[in-house]
Amino acid sequence: MSFKDKINLQQLPKHIAIIMDGNGRWAKQKGKLRTFGHQNGVAAVRDTVEAAAELGINFITLYAFSTENWNRPAFEVNALMELLVSTIHKETKTLMDNDIKLLSIGDIESLPKSCKKQLAETIEKTSGNKRMALVLALSYSSRWEIVNAVKQIAQKVQEGKLKSTDVDDKLIEQHLTTSQITDPELLIRTSGEYRISNFLLWQIAYSELYFTDKLWPDFRREDLYQAIVDFQKRERRFGGVTSVKPQKQHA
Ligand code: FPP
Repeated sequence: MSFKDKINLQQLPKHIAIIMDGNGRWAKQKGKLRTFGHQNGVAAVRDTVEAAAELGINFITLYAFSTENWNRPAFEVNALMELLVSTIHKETKTLMDNDIKLLSIGDIESLPKSCKKQLAETIEKTSGNKRMALVLALSYSSRWEIVNAVKQIAQKVQEGKLKSTDVDDKLIEQHLTTSQITDPELLIRTSGEYRISNFLLWQIAYSELYFTDKLWPDFRREDLYQAIVDFQKRERRFGGVTSVKPQKQHA
């Protein structure tokens, strides 16, 4: 029996965020270069995104490149950037066919020109799609995002557009790169690491965390289903005492 049959479709998380980890180790196990792991990670992305859209998830956010990833050897960074450009290019048709909108979060300005161009093209082309949003976190780190939000708010206070007493949760949220996206109810990390690695620190305040030993290139839809089944067994209290079930899906 597939984990899919155990999923309660009335209690799906609206937003699932994923830290795709383990590409390098997967390649090493096979005696190959780390870049071979990234290439094979694309099949996992495809299967997971397709399965999420079929289920009726509203947002899926993938940590594709962190601010810290710039510190990797130039060869690997370049290979990752090329892979991102070619994958986004190749998959634009699939996104259109499946009514999926592409969005990005992170310091997009820091990406190579070719990457920014492809990203902008596909974001524009898919902007009318409604079924699900695929959010790529690129050159993203949560501390970068929070510092950026604080700078914007400070500037507005300095210009007299805001008062310091206006600063609250909502205002900060509005200045994060995720301002148009609901917080993830479920965060998945692959590869047996139990860390958040500077990902969506503000947004996961109440998220359920799910860790699996699977290395990202081996992750498939069945693993996603398993994570959702696990999520649906959790009691979500949001700091209170009574159980709050994940909210019903938007139509
Ligand atoms: C982490 O594994 C993975 C990445 C830094 C990159 C993930 C990118 C892809 C799978 C390409 C995806 C393409 C699109 C369009 C989303 P790691 O290198 O940190 O592995 P390790 O921990 O074993 O070294």
